[in-house]
Amino acid sequence: MSEAVRTMMRMDAEAAQEIATQADAGFLWDFWYPAVRSTEIRGQKLVTAMLLEVPLVLGRTAEGKAFAMRDSCPHRGIPLSYGRLDGNVVECCYHGWRYDACSGQCVEIPSLTSQDKLKVERIFAGHYPCEERDGYVWVYMNATGSKLPETIPTVPALSVFSDKYKMIHLDCELPSHVDQGIIGLMDPAHGPFVHQSWFWRKRASIHEKAKQFEPIPNGFRMSPHQPSSNSAPYRLLAKMTGETVTTTIDFVLPNLRTEIDRSVKLWFSSRATVTPVRRDLCRIDFVAAWNLPVPVAIFRPFAKKFLRQDQETMIQQSEGLKYNPRLMLIDDADRQAKWYFALKANLLESRRTGESMVHPMDGPVTLRWRS
Ligand code: FES
Ligand SMILES: [Fe+2]
Repeated sequence: MSEAVRTMMRMDAEAAQEIATQADAGFLWDFWYPAVRSTEIRGQKLVTAMLLEVPLVLGRTAEGKAFAMRDSCPHRGIPLSYGRLDGNVVECCYHGWRYDACSGQCVEIPSLTSQDKLKVERIFAGHYPCEERDGYVWVYMNATGSKLPETIPTVPALSVFSDKYKMIHLDCELPSHVDQGIIGLMDPAHGPFVHQSWFWRKRASIHEKAKQFEPIPNGFRMSPHQPSSNSAPYRLLAKMTGETVTTTIDFVLPNLRTEIDRSVKLWFSSRATVTPVRRDLCRIDFVAAWNLPVPVAIFRPFAKKFLRQDQETMIQQSEGLKYNPRLMLIDDADRQAKWYFALKANLLESRRTGESMVHPMDGPVTLRWRS
C-alpha cells in the first residue's frame, strides 16, 4: 500500500468518525463558536480549547493572526500543544514535523533524506477558520475538519450604537448538554425563583405577561416592546432618559441570544452564547456593551451574580438529568424551547435533503405566562 493511500484511508476514517460523532452528540456543525478570549493568546504561547468534542490548539502567528488547529499531530496523534510555535509554524514535540499554523500544511519532516519521495506538502494537520471579534477567538467548526464550503458566514458581531462604550465579558461552565444550557437561557419562568433579588425580581412581583414573537432567519424574535416593570435595570434606563425603553430579544441558531435595550441615545446591548464543549459540558459566554453612565465595576458584580445563579441551578439540574428522567415542555412558558428544538431539527433536515429550511413558526404569535 502506498503512503498516499494509507494517508487517505486515515483521513477517511477520521471524517467518518467525525460524522458519527455529529450523529449522536446533538451538536450543530458548520457554525462559528467562541473558543477562547482574545487576551488568552499572546506571544508564542499555544493554548488548548475544546469545541464540540474536538480538541483544539490555538495561538497567534508572528503577524498576530489567530489560528486554530486540531490538537493532534497527523503523524502519530500526540497533541500539537506539547510542541512549540515558531513564528508561523507549529512544531510537533515528538518527531519535529512542522506545520504552517494557518493552513495546517506540513512544511518539514526532519527525518526525511534526499532519497525520500514523500510529498511533505500534501500532509495537513486539521485546521479550522479562525477570527477574532468582540474580544473572542471564534472558530468555524466545519463538520469534516478540512473540506470547507465555498463561502462561510461572517462571524457574529455584537451590535453597538455609539463610538464610545463600556464592555464586559463573563463566562461560566455548565455540566450539561448544550440543549439544556440553551433552553435555560430562553426560559422566562425561572426568573422569579432563580434570580430572586432586590435588583431583579421578587417572587411577589410575579404577574401575567404577554409577549409578541416573530420568526427571523434561523431563529425567533421577541418583538420590540417595553420591558417588564418588575426589573430594576429597565426602570433605571427609563429614569435616566425620561423616555420609554424598547427591548428586542433575538435567538438565532446555533446558540446566540442577543438583547438590545434602547432609550433615545442611551443603549445597552448584550449577547449570550452557549457553546458545546463536550456532550456533558457547555459554556456560557456573556458579553455586554453600553453607553449608560454605569461603570463596569458596578455592573460586573450584578451580572456575575445573575450568571452564578443560573450556573448553580444547572449544576443541581445535572444531578437529576444523570438518570435520564422524562421531561416536559409546557405552553406557553416553554414554547421558545420547543421552537429551539424544532429549528434545530428542521435545519438538520434541510441539510440532509438539500431543501430549504422550514421555519417552525408561520407568523407572529403572542405567548402568555406569569413571571
Ligand atoms: S507525532 Fe508529531 S511528528 Fe511524529
Ligand atoms: Fe437565568
